[in-house]
Amino acid sequence: MEDINYKAFVTKESDAGFTNSIEDLSTSNLHKNDLLIRVSYSSLNYKDALSASGNKGVTREYPHTPGIDAVGEVVESNSPQFEVGESIVVTGYDLGMNTYGGFGQYISIPANWAISLPKELSETEAMSIGTAGLTAGLCVRKLLMNDLAPDLGDVLVTGASGGVGSVAVMILSKLGFRVTALTGKEDQIDYLESLGASSVIMRNEMEEQGKPLQKSLYQGGVDTVGGNILSNFISQTSQRGAITCCGNVASDKLQTSIFPFILRGVSLIGIDSAESILEVKKEIWKNFSKDWKIDLEKITKEVQLDSLPHEVEKILKGEQVGRIRVNLG
Ligand SMILES: NC(=O)c1ccc[n+]([C@@H]2O[C@H](COP(=O)([O-])OP(=O)(O)OC[C@H]3O[C@@H](n4cnc5c(N)ncnc54)[C@H](OP(=O)(O)O)[C@@H]3O)[C@@H](O)[C@H]2O)c1
Repeated sequence: MEDINYKAFVTKESDAGFTNSIEDLSTSNLHKNDLLIRVSYSSLNYKDALSASGNKGVTREYPHTPGIDAVGEVVESNSPQFEVGESIVVTGYDLGMNTYGGFGQYISIPANWAISLPKELSETEAMSIGTAGLTAGLCVRKLLMNDLAPDLGDVLVTGASGGVGSVAVMILSKLGFRVTALTGKEDQIDYLESLGASSVIMRNEMEEQGKPLQKSLYQGGVDTVGGNILSNFISQTSQRGAITCCGNVASDKLQTSIFPFILRGVSLIGIDSAESILEVKKEIWKNFSKDWKIDLEKITKEVQLDSLPHEVEKILKGEQVGRIRVNLG
């Protein structure tokens, strides 16, 4: 196939630091892989903002095109599993980390990163979900596997107005749970209630390190922030409860005690969506296309590549609400 010129968001490193710009690239520069995909949409996740701002824990070498999510059409296939013209979705693995990602109009990926887009989901719906939604789904899956149930008490979602948090609130409330949403944004209480939260509490109520065992308020839930908030969450979780831990926007530290684990049997469950096995990712996409079908359009803002630098700044400051879908045009 002939080389194709395309547009991409590119992060570059110089003595002055890291800069972002929209550049013209060629598919000849992409590492040859099983599938060449013309990307229609991507989405903005916290990890993309880390990559776009030079975090070497996420991306080792620059120049680089971030974007850990992509949906689009197969234009070249060296895999019997996928045909030219098929719509696929990919989230995580190395995409957007050290493999050029979905903030470019073309990506080249191994076939075992790709999932056929379920026919019940549109490309726009898929990228409203993206890694943030998939992660929320993986969290809910683990909570259900740990026997959390709507009649066993309230659940808490922290970082609730963010990407992972918003989708977690929506799925859990759809499944019948009473959801308490923790937020730092006083002006987003109505938003969180509109997603299905039955109560909203402010972040400062949980930011001070508390006692190891506190009053049991929740049967568990979804933590996206870490630090003292997660520590208090563990201490406020009831007998046999479970919490999923996926993010560190508040802190990557966790000071806790053995007591919630040995006196209340609390489980703390780690989530790594990027490296989840493909079959589990497929299960979550299927859930979003059937039993967990939720209207994410109301929490999604769609942007073009040239607006991304501004959106990256906002997510790094913890100011984003809901999901950002990127239209590759
Ligand atoms: N492990 C995985 O597989 C995985 C996958 C996806 C994301 N993540 C991680 O999960 C976290 C959330 O990702 P996201 O895409 O949802 O990001 P996001 O859209 O930026 O949401 C994060 C939310 O956290 C809250 N927050 C921000 N700064 C805070 C602070 N200093 N203290 C407490 N809360 C704060 C804010 O919500 P409120 O104002 O409502 O509190 C913010 O909207 C990130 O750490 C991300 O890297 C992990």
